[in-house]
Amino acid sequence: MSIGQRIFASVYDPMNRAGEAGWVGRRRTGLLADVEGVVLEIGAGTGANIAHYRAAERVVLTEPCAAMRARIAAKLPLATVPIEVTSAPADALEFADDSFDAVVATLVLCTVPDVASALAEVRRVLRPGGELRFLEHGAEHHGRRAAWQRRIEPVWRRVGQGCRLTRNPRAGVEAAGFEIRRYEVFDPKAPAILRPFCEGVAVK
Ligand SMILES: C[S@@+](CC[C@H](N)C(=O)[O-])C[C@H]1O[C@@H](n2cnc3c(N)ncnc32)[C@H](O)[C@@H]1O
Repeated sequence: MSIGQRIFASVYDPMNRAGEAGWVGRRRTGLLADVEGVVLEIGAGTGANIAHYRAAERVVLTEPCAAMRARIAAKLPLATVPIEVTSAPADALEFADDSFDAVVATLVLCTVPDVASALAEVRRVLRPGGELRFLEHGAEHHGRRAAWQRRIEPVWRRVGQGCRLTRNPRAGVEAAGFEIRRYEVFDPKAPAILRPFCEGVAVK
């Protein structure tokens, strides 16, 4: 485990505390409270979504970074549904085809090394008709903000453990063969470097 990963994991929850108590927390609840059946969450980080699942039969969290994963245990008492934790990266999931009713990705498509490989795996393990629910930063990038984000991205990527500022999650989801059912781009009270954000539901 690198020193960068250790530092990122230790600052992640304190850095996000205000947002989690405000708009991020509300978005997580809105996206996840009614998700049903057996659910897979990719890149679960420190387990920020755990408290927001209310209707799932069971949730499997995958998080490849040991420093982030180690922090999930402290959030397990907040769970109201059964939670399992594994270490699989999104692009090498150790699950059978069609084995989940829903897959969740929040603030993670910015960071996976290869969006197409990750979403191909997500699509493989999702049952036909199953939903991918996502909440991400980045969307259609244009104008002065986009130019600035492109310039700063190489440095940001180092500090943010691989996080990209200029990806377009919707384009990745559609390219992976999902059908978008609901999609919203929004500009919350968050640092300009990360805006806009987007939220969506797509179906296999
Ligand atoms: C910005 S954090 C988001 C954590 C969490 N999903 C949330 O909503 O707070 C990005 C996470 O993606 C994880 N990650 C990096 N590479 C990954 C991969 N190949 N597959 C799955 N997750 C990955 C990182 O370890 C990190 O925990």
